[in-house]
Amino acid sequence: MSTANSLDAFWMPFTPNRAFKASPRMVSRAEGMHYYTQDGRAILDATSGLWCCNAGHARPKIVQAIQRTAAELDFAISFNLGHPLVFEFANRLAGILPSGLDRIAFTNSGSEAVDTALKIALAYQRARGKPGKYRLIGRERAYHGVNFGGISVGGIPRNRMTYGPMVVGVDHLPHTHDIARNAFSKGQPAHGVEFADALERIIYLHDASTIAAVIVEPIAGSTGVLIPPKGYLERLRAICDKHDILLIFDEVITGFGRLGAAFASQYFDIKPDMMTIAKGITNASVPMGAVAAKREIYDTMLANSDTPIELFHGYTTTGHPLACAAGIATLDTYKEDGLFERAAELAPYWQEAIHSLRDARHVIDIRNLGLVGGIELEPRPGEATKRALEAFNACFDAGLLTRVTGDIIAFSPPLIIEKSHIDQIIDTVRNVLGGIE
Ligand SMILES: Cc1ncc(COP(=O)(O)O)c(C=O)c1O
Repeated sequence: MSTANSLDAFWMPFTPNRAFKASPRMVSRAEGMHYYTQDGRAILDATSGLWCCNAGHARPKIVQAIQRTAAELDFAISFNLGHPLVFEFANRLAGILPSGLDRIAFTNSGSEAVDTALKIALAYQRARGKPGKYRLIGRERAYHGVNFGGISVGGIPRNRMTYGPMVVGVDHLPHTHDIARNAFSKGQPAHGVEFADALERIIYLHDASTIAAVIVEPIAGSTGVLIPPKGYLERLRAICDKHDILLIFDEVITGFGRLGAAFASQYFDIKPDMMTIAKGITNASVPMGAVAAKREIYDTMLANSDTPIELFHGYTTTGHPLACAAGIATLDTYKEDGLFERAAELAPYWQEAIHSLRDARHVIDIRNLGLVGGIELEPRPGEATKRALEAFNACFDAGLLTRVTGDIIAFSPPLIIEKSHIDQIIDTVRNVLGGIE
């Protein structure tokens, strides 16, 4: 039997439940750059929660918008009924998305955004008279959430192996991580544009007439901050154009200022045909995700539909009023505080700071772009991932929240970060790494 304070009932996600519940780490409050533990200890948040609270925690404008809306319009369905906030928010998003990607389908998470985008890709190909284009191409070491579409195009073996055949007709590009040639690159690595050429080989194998879309993260975050080599994304775009294949950027973590522009698409100046977004869309204050599609995709679907409903897809809570209100207030906060510009301004300081750890114990690579950083540790012989996990725990005990994946420590701090916080992150990590075996 579980009591009110027992930890048993909650089946925690992506967590070793037994180990956590034997030795729990709890936070009970958050504000600005910090979480606070139940006994009042401040923990500097170097991960924006999980790549999502880009404006920092508990921003007043966002909090007030949620409170006001909860009392005014707690819920409204979006099937055959509208409410002003959802249209306003879609228009506001269209205003900061790459031009032309201004048709927006809302979801409740990044995972749902990915599956929605993949379904739109297939539906669009059918609507334009090409139903044979059904294959989806993902990439090794990709994370596209946890739903069946996302794990099918995703490239993390553990997330896939348990779940049977998944979506059929999927192939994968090779990942771009090349530590032998690119270790300690500042910004985009010099080597690896040719990883994109693997797409030509996949197209040759399956034929372009069977391929609907390619989906990639501009930066692979969850598998350890893999920065795209110079010219790589440009080449993927060119190959997709050449073969009439849609290119989808999964911008769930690169969106909303992370690289110093609204989206990675603008930072790299490459326009995908669709984008998936989530997390920073509401500063993670209310769950939400979205797909931004090229207008032409939407227009084709509407023009060629043989039924009154053009897309048989949607969620009960699509465009939830609280999420839309939080999203509008979030965009206001980003703008009023100039946070995307701030990320761009701080990026050089961040780059030098994180690369100063090059000589820290166990470090075999450091990667960065915008306000993103990754430190790869040498795996402990016979105990891969243990060292990074110990570093995570020791950082937390020393008042710093990081994120670890494999033997990589990842950083994605809120864009409100001060230089003094960056210094604190670097000092803490250096000390922690010095103290673990
Ligand atoms: C690139 C990418 N896509 C999709 C997702 C899934 O988002 P969610 O956890 O909101 O379902 C994530 C989550 O980290 C992500 O990093």
